[in-house]
Amino acid sequence: MKTPTISSLLFAFLVIFSCSSLVSSDGHDDFLQCMSLQSNNHTSISNIVYTPNNTSYSSILNFSIQNLRFTSETTPKPLVIVTPVHESQIQPVIYCAKENGMQIRVRSGGHDYEGLSYASEVPFVILDLFNLREISVDAENKTAWIQAGSTIGELYYRIAEKSQTLGFPAGVCPTVGAGGHFSGGGYGALLRKYGLAADNIIDARIVDVNGRILDRISMGEDLFWAIRGGGGASFGVILAWKIQLVDVPEKVTVFTIDKTLDQNATNIVHRWQYIAHKFDEDLFIRILIRRVNSSEDSKRTIQATFQSLFLGGVDRLLPLMQQSFPELGLQREDCTEMSWIESILYFAGFPIESRDVLLNRTQPNVRYFKAKSDYVQKPISKNGLQGIWKLFFEEEAEEAEMILSPYGGRMDEISESAIPFPHRAGNLYKIQHLVYWEEEEVEATQNYINWIRKLYSYMAPYVSRFPRAAYINYRDLDIGVNNNGNTSYAQASIWGIKYFKNNFNRLVQVKTKVDPANFFRNEQSIPPLNSWWNKNGK
Ligand code: FDA
Repeated sequence: MKTPTISSLLFAFLVIFSCSSLVSSDGHDDFLQCMSLQSNNHTSISNIVYTPNNTSYSSILNFSIQNLRFTSETTPKPLVIVTPVHESQIQPVIYCAKENGMQIRVRSGGHDYEGLSYASEVPFVILDLFNLREISVDAENKTAWIQAGSTIGELYYRIAEKSQTLGFPAGVCPTVGAGGHFSGGGYGALLRKYGLAADNIIDARIVDVNGRILDRISMGEDLFWAIRGGGGASFGVILAWKIQLVDVPEKVTVFTIDKTLDQNATNIVHRWQYIAHKFDEDLFIRILIRRVNSSEDSKRTIQATFQSLFLGGVDRLLPLMQQSFPELGLQREDCTEMSWIESILYFAGFPIESRDVLLNRTQPNVRYFKAKSDYVQKPISKNGLQGIWKLFFEEEAEEAEMILSPYGGRMDEISESAIPFPHRAGNLYKIQHLVYWEEEEVEATQNYINWIRKLYSYMAPYVSRFPRAAYINYRDLDIGVNNNGNTSYAQASIWGIKYFKNNFNRLVQVKTKVDPANFFRNEQSIPPLNSWWNKNGK
């Protein structure tokens, strides 16, 4: 058989693309030509590259977007989306994006709260890893390799296929992607017992800015440290994680108890703040605060929902609760024993029999939303809580929510600098503030965003200070953004210290070493020290 020449392959490649889109010259032609030249298997490349005129472009772009705020006509769109089916297809994307002055936005699960994995004002390509989702569980050694494009639902499902007594301490929502979630920390109902997902990573594979595929040994401990909580997007393209699985009992117990204001919610929430971080570390009780219609007189009230996972049976839980939190009035009939994998479905709001939903990559209920985070180090007074309830009675708060997740346990034992995620001992709990809405109009959007900003201002005296700490996985561009293009250390430290405290400096050092020209960047990426702004003293 005659071996095709580069030029014949390039021609074939352009013909394939011209059928779908490549007739206009709006910035991606050179990128595509470069991809063609860089790739060994040209036909397969054509199946993984989407440009705006391609019929599948919009569905590929939108399928994993979680926040409708970033699906409007005016949201800046990628020139190209690449969906590699093999690791070797990533290096050409990095090379060709660099060559053509394009940024890369890496997307795994698409859950970024501010859309940073799929929207950008500058010319960019989305590298969407959803096809890279192999998971291999080694139950005997209690480890697993998980490709970055997998969701945590898929991970939980694959672990449960192999073992009823192994689990992993990652998030509650099954569609969250391992690429972004683990690299930003990642927590769920096992956090008091085992810490974060990032605390349980033992190896990783990453493509660096020079296209090299590195593992823990070849990347070195500094970079390996940085990608476990420092946000992956600043450092390269994470391909896969090796994780330490954790032991879970055959039976866990769950319960959900609602308390409205008439049912003493204020006092019980107030009390919870003093004790939830000190409970036995097998016990995790979070609180979800919402406004609801009270069942009796259809008047509006505040409802605090106490939702719990206990790593043990109900017979051990009941005396524990009686001793440490009698105010909640937990009864045996409130509790259900189940397997850990069933508790994952329970927390995610699915029937516990429907295990296969963990393999779905799309969320049934995607809405417009804006979120923020806070850390609480001293209990909020009852007066302070009542001020929050007042804000929840405002019009814009119809679909607002506050989620209070207790710390303590394992979180207190891990040092602030073990990984970039610094929020450890001293924190009683974390708050996630959320407001959802249905209207797409700009004015409505602004009203809801103003409301959550007002709530955030109100919270200032009650939460951590110097810095007012925040969780990178609840990305919030209000707390500071980089300058467009390169950014100064000073500018980035405005948001960086809030997410990482003193670890920000080490992250900057790692960035300076591994990506000195700041190729991997976004509105909240770690800057290198020798960037243009720093060189020019600005
Ligand atoms: P996405 O693909 O949008 O990536 C997020 C960021 O990571 C982007 O900057 C992206 O470029 C970068 N990135 C992604 N993959 C990468 C890779 N392979 N290499 C390098 N960089 C990469 N959090 C939590 O801790 N506990 C929870 O229970 C939940 N629950 C939850 C529910 C819902 C509905 C949402 C929308 C979000 C959460 N989160 C959460 C927050 C979640 O952890 C956070 O949004 C993660 O960054 C999402 O990771 P994805 O890969 O899905 O996002």
